[in-house]
Amino acid sequence: MYYIGIDLGTSAVKLLLMDGEGKIVNIVSREYPLYFPHPGWSEQKPEDWYEQTMAGIRELTGGVDKSRVAGISFGGQMHGLVILDKDDNVIRPAILWNDGRTAKETEYLNTVIGREKLSEYTANIAFAGFTAPKLLWVKENEPENFARIAKIMLPKDYIAYRLTGVHCTDVSDASGMLLFDVKNRRWSREMCDICGVSPSQLAKCHESYEAVGTVLPAVAEELGISASVKVAAGAGDNAAAAVGTGTVGDNMCNISLGTSGTIFISSRNFGVDKYNALHSFAHADGSYHLMGCMLSAASCNKWWMDEIIGTKDYAAQQQLTGKLGENHVYFLPYLMGERSPHNNPDARAVFLGMSMDTTRADMTQAVLEGVAFALRDSLEVAKSLGISLTRTKICGGGAKSPLWKKIIANVLNLKVDVLESEEGPAMGGAMLAAVACGAYESVEEIAGKVVRIVETVEPEAELVDKYEERYRKFKEIYPACKPLFVS
Ligand code: XUL
Repeated sequence: MYYIGIDLGTSAVKLLLMDGEGKIVNIVSREYPLYFPHPGWSEQKPEDWYEQTMAGIRELTGGVDKSRVAGISFGGQMHGLVILDKDDNVIRPAILWNDGRTAKETEYLNTVIGREKLSEYTANIAFAGFTAPKLLWVKENEPENFARIAKIMLPKDYIAYRLTGVHCTDVSDASGMLLFDVKNRRWSREMCDICGVSPSQLAKCHESYEAVGTVLPAVAEELGISASVKVAAGAGDNAAAAVGTGTVGDNMCNISLGTSGTIFISSRNFGVDKYNALHSFAHADGSYHLMGCMLSAASCNKWWMDEIIGTKDYAAQQQLTGKLGENHVYFLPYLMGERSPHNNPDARAVFLGMSMDTTRADMTQAVLEGVAFALRDSLEVAKSLGISLTRTKICGGGAKSPLWKKIIANVLNLKVDVLESEEGPAMGGAMLAAVACGAYESVEEIAGKVVRIVETVEPEAELVDKYEERYRKFKEIYPACKPLFVS
């Protein structure tokens, strides 16, 4: 049988077709626009997601026997606010995870309601990209839209709804709404009251590997698949990527270099970061995880290559770079503000340390290094909580770059295990579908059987030492610049 994994990303939807043994049969990708209607705002149209997902499924399954498609599931960009009216029409464009408009609402939640209360109710504090502050923003700034809300959804859940007619979500994605009691895996009545919404406006919450329904007959006909195809709840893209890279069970790590950059640490037990820098979320395997999220990772490199240098040949530019660990240029990667660990939507990117002999290659390398240093910031928080890691998996578009993997291995001093495909969330989505269809008993079982490591990038002692020194300097740049970052 075949299983379809849909990674509803920020720049594109990536779709993966997997067979019952975990072999990747096909991968396709389709882009859609991202809108920045004001500096720091970030929106997309749910209809664009749906159209491209449907076109993507048709393309993905074009060359195979469609009657063998058994299940569909997701990894979806997290935190995005999708609001539907009583007739299930989308009320306004979705406000995305990297949107920074809610500084005021975030401040209100963290100071007036208070971090302790938020942490008690949800295991997390408010970050600008989370869903609850966005609801407060709509309530304050678009009261007519707020009054029309019948359902509050997350991006991938809107696609599940269009495919099945069921309003659903899953525990990992719900965790990022700040409306969810992560420890007990249920909606938080207290948070609903604080945001002025009722639990009935939220979707039914499932474990990620549970089937929520089957595809609607009209959808089945349009796609040429059977109406008995099951749709599983799926997961937020980071939890799905963790499944896709086999980051399940206890104390495993995955780094995702997508539009965002995340460091994801799985745990069998519920735990909260006492410094509130790392998110404490439910995992798609039935357990929990801690996660640091930076808002711009591969997108820093994309910006530097596409917008500034003006090239699409990233690999050629990366071949020009010089000696690792000896770059005199630093880059703060905060193009869209920063989440972990700084929680500052007003932070911005900075190049520092150029001289007359600085080359384009030095700056290209600095961009890749800046992202690695910022991931290290979150790793340092994890270490301070007593978490000890020696290796990590890696996925996302940035994981295609051999240079970037080497920089990450040495800056973080971790062995980096590379998988067969860097499409973590789409692979995880397909795996969750296979579990929902009963092909495997559990997420851990399928991860143990189908995830294949093809290479390990080892840190090198001399380089680790050089980067250690550079990281110490990097850490001083943000506090020095912080007073200048005001909106
Ligand atoms: C995680 C986060 C991002 C998005 C990207 O908290 O905001 O990784 O999920 O799609």
